Amino acid sequence: MAGRLMRAVVYEGYGGGAAKLKHVEVPIPPPKKDEVLLKMEATSVNPFDWTIQTGRMRPILPFKFPYIPGIDAAAEVIEVGEGVQNLKAGDKVVSVLSFGGGGGFSEYAVASKALTVKRPPEVSAAEGVGLPIAGGVGHYAVQLAKLGNAHVTVTCGARNADFLKSLGADEILDYNTAEGAAHKSPSGKTYDYVIHCATGIPFSTFEPNLSKNGKVIDLTPGPRTMLNFVFQNENLEYLIGLVKQGKLKTIMDSKYPLDKAEEAWAKSIEGHATGKIIVEH
Ligand SMILES: NC(=O)c1ccc[n+]([C@@H]2O[C@H](COP(=O)([O-])OP(=O)(O)OC[C@H]3O[C@@H](n4cnc5c(N)ncnc54)[C@H](OP(=O)(O)O)[C@@H]3O)[C@@H](O)[C@H]2O)c1
Repeated sequence: MAGRLMRAVVYEGYGGGAAKLKHVEVPIPPPKKDEVLLKMEATSVNPFDWTIQTGRMRPILPFKFPYIPGIDAAAEVIEVGEGVQNLKAGDKVVSVLSFGGGGGFSEYAVASKALTVKRPPEVSAAEGVGLPIAGGVGHYAVQLAKLGNAHVTVTCGARNADFLKSLGADEILDYNTAEGAAHKSPSGKTYDYVIHCATGIPFSTFEPNLSKNGKVIDLTPGPRTMLNFVFQNENLEYLIGLVKQGKLKTIMDSKYPLDKAEEAWAKSIEGHATGKIIVEH
């Protein structure tokens, strides 16, 4: 395959949002040692992806321009590089592509064997691709917290209140109201954990609402989150297992073909997705 051309979407510098995505043809990358070549089935757009484009993570990310975005991958293994024993051509997988190298917005991509997990037939490409970076992160967090029998208070826009109740949320706060913005639990509870996944909220609003040993887990994009990010195959396998058993759902906001990747990009930048924004190949 190496050397043949494939369709890809790239951007060539910082800034410019969806308007700066370009459709090009580039050579199919060869899998190196411990890597697999993937035929992409789906990727997703997450706030993390377009945050890289803004230049907020320079000089760490991206490694170089032109850059093919897309870090989540649901795909089929086409070729394996030297040293790959646990995967073979024909395996359906979910992968995390290199943060610095990206590659999901293309027909083929290379992934490390260490960041690639087999996907059972019960889990579709679109369901599986939501799991690695897990944008639309709040809807997974609620479901996982409920699986752990936690009492869950959610902040969301009023339009999503019923949706989040259906996922198991016990209390709902509308972030557009004063009480919601202050994160006060309606029943007066304090929080043992706050999963912080909306940008522009000062830590000082969490502090008065935390229990004695309460913790804030900050998922918002930035160099600090990058440094704390630890990917473990067994965690992804665990999540795929929950989807297979019907215990965890991937809620899809919208799906776009690769030809319309810029529409998916713009939708994510708008910040009003409910669940995952998927790009299918
Ligand atoms: N560290 C990690 O591994 C990791 C992984 C995934 C995501 N993240 C981060 O987590 C954040 C969320 O990502 P995402 O993909 O879930 O984003 P998203 O899908 O773009 O989030 C959009 C949703 O957030 C709601 N929202 C906006 N402001 C809010 C606020 N102040 N309080 C409560 N809800 C609010 C919106 O509601 P309305 O439409 O009603 O306004 C909309 O439903 C991002 O900062 C992302 O980078 C981190």
